[in-house]
Amino acid sequence: MKTVKIILVNLCRLALALTFVFSGFVKAIDPQGTQYKLQDYLTALSLQGFVPDAVTLLAAVALAAIELTMGIMILFAIERRRISKFVVAFMAVMTLITVWIFFANPVKDCGCFGDAIHLTNGQTLAKNIVLMACALIVVRWPLLMPRLISKTNQWIITNYTLLYILATSAWCLWDLPTFDFRPYHLGANILKGMTIPKGAPQPKFTTTFILEKHGVKKEFTLDNYPDSTWTFIDSKTVQTAPGYVPPIHDFSIEDQQGNDITQQALHHKGYTFLLIMPHLEQADQSQFGDINEIYDYAVDHHYPFYCLTASDEKARQKWEDMTGAEYPFYTCDETTLKTIVRSNPGLVLLKDATVIGKWSHNRLPKEIMSDKPLNELSIGQLNPDSVAKRVTEIFLWYVLPLFLLSLVDRIIVNIKRRKDIFVSHKNNRTMRKKIVAGNWKMNMNLQDGVALAKEINAACAADKPNCGVIVCTPFIHLASVAQVLDQNVVALGAENCADKAKGAYTGEVSAEMVKSTGAQYVILGHSERRQYYHETPEILKEKVQLALANGLKVIFCCGETLEEREANKQNEVVKAELDGSVFNLSADEWKNIVLAYEPIWAIGTGKTATSDQAEEMLAYIRSIVAEKYGKQAAEDTTILYGGSCKPGNAKELFAKPDIDGGLIGGASLKAADFKAIIDAWK
Ligand code: PGA
Repeated sequence: MKTVKIILVNLCRLALALTFVFSGFVKAIDPQGTQYKLQDYLTALSLQGFVPDAVTLLAAVALAAIELTMGIMILFAIERRRISKFVVAFMAVMTLITVWIFFANPVKDCGCFGDAIHLTNGQTLAKNIVLMACALIVVRWPLLMPRLISKTNQWIITNYTLLYILATSAWCLWDLPTFDFRPYHLGANILKGMTIPKGAPQPKFTTTFILEKHGVKKEFTLDNYPDSTWTFIDSKTVQTAPGYVPPIHDFSIEDQQGNDITQQALHHKGYTFLLIMPHLEQADQSQFGDINEIYDYAVDHHYPFYCLTASDEKARQKWEDMTGAEYPFYTCDETTLKTIVRSNPGLVLLKDATVIGKWSHNRLPKEIMSDKPLNELSIGQLNPDSVAKRVTEIFLWYVLPLFLLSLVDRIIVNIKRRKDIFVSHKNNRTMRKKIVAGNWKMNMNLQDGVALAKEINAACAADKPNCGVIVCTPFIHLASVAQVLDQNVVALGAENCADKAKGAYTGEVSAEMVKSTGAQYVILGHSERRQYYHETPEILKEKVQLALANGLKVIFCCGETLEEREANKQNEVVKAELDGSVFNLSADEWKNIVLAYEPIWAIGTGKTATSDQAEEMLAYIRSIVAEKYGKQAAEDTTILYGGSCKPGNAKELFAKPDIDGGLIGGASLKAADFKAIIDAWK
């Protein structure tokens, strides 16, 4: 069952990651395309006039960067909990938008995958519902996604991705999209793109007629058209099937007199220059000199040169005055022009109606300066950068560095792990165990407790802790929780046991009973038991003996009250507690003792001892253990800190040399918090 869950979560993770990486990338390489799509949405909402172009362009770049970075974070399991929540929020917004476009039909294509893949609104909705389900699965068990990079190096992946994608967007804006998915890509023949193949489906129409007789109006079709006693009132024709739409269906050129010269232009044998300027008012003027030179070159070599624009006569005049342009202007649809080339102005070179060259105004071809005819120049040949070359560039600039980084990261992590093992073997002693133990106290009914235990177990199984993990539960949970824990990863403990071995002690639970559930640990000496149930050092001494005799390990708590600390009696108090209950043990028995220093004023109060206060006390405790059992035994004794230890302070506490982990109350009741504390050891 657990394996199925892990597989499911990781399949969802992969689906989300690949979708976001792809959709982010295709948007990033064509920021203007994404911008036009955003403007379509604004038009549908009648907001087009209110949002400046710069804002929609920025939004397009930001959207691409967010999607791709989100995809990479999910892929590498970076900030797993946070990113999966973000993905759910993102998908919720996107799904709502697709529900809207599905029902209201404001745009034909959602634009999720730029021009690379066009989806109908129904397909988009279905896709988002699937992705939303994936996001919900991932957010439910984010810790089941193993990390591909260690926490310390995550920032490199995230920042490099952001940098890469922003640089890609900037480059594609300055130049042209790296990959061109539009029908006017290099190598595309415009005439062919306009052709409707033989046998292609035709659009279908149905006509209904409204007729009247004796004041009653009724609708008929041709099939049931009535006799002449009915009077014709009206008819309506609706399209019932769309028919085949060729990839290029809106390309037409008109001269200044309004004559359609499309066929004449496209049937020209040889080279034709198209200067594309959807809007002269917004066209970049900086390269007008180069453009004029290209025009002169075209005239010299008798290549037709058409400047295609959607702007009116006034704008043309103004452009001519400003730039000294002598080339002829022709009218073409604005959207068509924006589709042909993502640059204003942009230059297109056709040969026999096939697109063989495309340039943004920032990278106009300089080769024509040589004045040779086009057939002698490389730009006169169809030479699209091969897809393989561009994919290789992406690989070299982005995929390879990330891959190498994670490889090095994994190797370092492994070397470190081996070194630690080697050092501990060399010192001929096991480094003392680091432990994070949860103390559920009197919380959780049986069902909730089992569910929590399962969640903790799954999280630790998916992402191996760097410390021992124990959950200590109420008696009632022990047997059931034992069934769901893999105790090699998460061990089980009780919160108490009786001070009697067996017999007529109604309501008590013996150490033997605890052990028989599968538990390995028991917490004894907790201040709440001392305070509310009057457990004295003598009673605790009995309990410790019985626990050890039954093969349980003891987490023995000690700690002072606020008044005792204010009176600077903490050392004295702690020493008395240990003296009274555990310092009587033999050296062998001592090996099964874990100590927990829990200042009573910090338990459940939100008030943590500072890491220095805790360290000072733990060092003191270690020193008195050394006095009693020797230096080596003290070095080997695990001593925990307890009292408002939480994800936010665990790392600082655990960084102290004498603090070997924590006994966690409140924060152990949420798997995510508890796991975050466990991860403080990473
Ligand atoms: P707390 O409890 O973490 O909720 O302060 C600690 C404990 O009593 O063990």
